[in-house]
Amino acid sequence: MSIPPSLPITESKEDGDYIKLCKEYDYLIETIPKGNGWNVKHLYKYNGFWLNPIGIKANLLLHAYFKSHPTDIFLASFMKSGTTWLKALMISTINRHRYNFTDHHLHHHGPQSTFPSIDIEFQSYPITDFMHISAPRLFATHLPRTLLPPSVTSCKFIYICRDPKDVLVSKWFFMNKIRDTDLPPLSFDEAFDLFCQGISDFGPFWEHVLSYWRASLDAPDKILFLKYEEVKEQPEAVVRKLATFMGEPFTAEEDEQRVAENIVNMCSFENLSNLEVNKTGVFNIGIGKVGNREFFRKGKIGDWKNYMTEEMKQRIDGITHEKLKGSGLAFGENA
Ligand code: A3P
Repeated sequence: MSIPPSLPITESKEDGDYIKLCKEYDYLIETIPKGNGWNVKHLYKYNGFWLNPIGIKANLLLHAYFKSHPTDIFLASFMKSGTTWLKALMISTINRHRYNFTDHHLHHHGPQSTFPSIDIEFQSYPITDFMHISAPRLFATHLPRTLLPPSVTSCKFIYICRDPKDVLVSKWFFMNKIRDTDLPPLSFDEAFDLFCQGISDFGPFWEHVLSYWRASLDAPDKILFLKYEEVKEQPEAVVRKLATFMGEPFTAEEDEQRVAENIVNMCSFENLSNLEVNKTGVFNIGIGKVGNREFFRKGKIGDWKNYMTEEMKQRIDGITHEKLKGSGLAFGENA
């Protein structure tokens, strides 16, 4: 797949539909429950999940205008679970015949910009039709499975999740970086409390993870379910899984050339975070631009220990245990 430098915009002839959609949006924002936001003032509870106002509009636009193709492959994740890393691994794996490792695509492009995030692309109208991308098209989303348009769910999905304690700490740092300047900084105590109540962009975390976990049990050939911790421990095995799942397993010749190992090294935290493009480049998240460097903080398992008290750990682990009980899924010491 390839992305041309500028995306052609297709004017839709259905402006009447768009106006109706805007009215529906205005009605929703007036009527559905709201809670405190992380980077904006409020999040809204939309069909069981907390989204910011732009996220709700994007979801309506996505359902109305996105045309999926059976060969599309989605990367789905809860924010701060390893999306950046997986984007880098997926684009390097699928394009391994096109890129060489001395002058690689990732040397010039932040991983976040390598393929489109539907949550961002559908924030404004008119919308790109993505027909210019050759198959298989790669897309990313933070949406839970149940908020996706039904046609998309027949596509292949790679889902990455992570111990919620590390997700929460990572998200707290990130959201304070992009928080509206007219709001006071979000304290860790407040972020912790909101997260535990499920009030977190695209949350509740546990329902998000379960939406993909259950679907992956029903259709393992359609959903590759990964954990950040597993990618950390066995990155090469994961790259092999990615290649096979995306339809192009490594050949014996590629094994001889250590291609999987090269991909792992190219996409390591140390390598990516030290590239000039990730130190100084920016990524447009729709509501504004964020430095690529904000997607690389520590890249470690267990950093939550530096921020949570024993009581906090017990509370969040208790919620995780209760919510995931009987599902066959676990995190941290219970995994
Ligand atoms: P920390 O804040 O714990 O360091 P996302 O990409 O979903 O926004 O997740 C960001 C988290 O993934 C951050 O976690 C970031 O440091 C980490 N990360 C980014 N690139 C990584 C890589 N190549 N290897 C491991 N972790 C990475």
